[in-house]
Amino acid sequence: MANSRRDKADSYTLKARKEGYPARSVYKLEEINQTHKLIKPGDTVLDVGAAPGSWTLFTHRELIKGKGKIVSVDLNPLNLNPVPPTVIEFTGDAFSKEIRAQLVEHGPYDTIISDAAPMTTGNRTVDTTRSEWLAEQVVFLAEEQLKVHGNLVIKIFQGGGQEQVLKNMRTLFNKAKAFKPKACRDDSFEIYLIGLDKK
Ligand SMILES: C[S@@+](CC[C@H](N)C(=O)[O-])C[C@H]1O[C@@H](n2cnc3c(N)ncnc32)[C@H](O)[C@@H]1O
Repeated sequence: MANSRRDKADSYTLKARKEGYPARSVYKLEEINQTHKLIKPGDTVLDVGAAPGSWTLFTHRELIKGKGKIVSVDLNPLNLNPVPPTVIEFTGDAFSKEIRAQLVEHGPYDTIISDAAPMTTGNRTVDTTRSEWLAEQVVFLAEEQLKVHGNLVIKIFQGGGQEQVLKNMRTLFNKAKAFKPKACRDDSFEIYLIGLDKK
């Protein structure tokens, strides 16, 4: 059948492969930026949960256009060869004392993007709780390290807690909303929270 859920997923995967991106998630950031204009050429961007590196590569190529800086951090190394010249990579827990100190050293940032996700267990309560914790940590980071007028996007698994995270974001940003890109798999329970224009 031509337009089943997985056919849609496969078309994004094939497109990503053809365009040299290591993951199909690149098209989520493309749509988020098209609709919300988070990043512009020359920006300093922090990418949290960056591996294998599609968001980082897309930001380098299409958003900052090779100007500016991307600080990319993940528990795992980026799978980009070569790593673009605008990218400074850190491997480790973004919220550990050591890595956090490095992120602070390279800040503050015009935009923070986070597609960070926990290893899923299949237990929806456990997975959403871990995702909410990651999202909260990124909001704390944005509180400290995002410039005034800066923008934020974070992934969160839907389970109820996203309303509290959004509420916190509303105190920090002039505009905050939830957004589900078309490239999310139909059966996925992830959603993105977007904060625009930090107060
Ligand atoms: C869906 S993947 C990100 C895909 C990426 N945006 C891309 O386009 O290639 C989620 C990532 O979050 C990372 N992650 C989860 N917890 C993290 C943490 N505490 N610190 C850094 N990275 C973390 C995982 O290692 C994983 O690589």
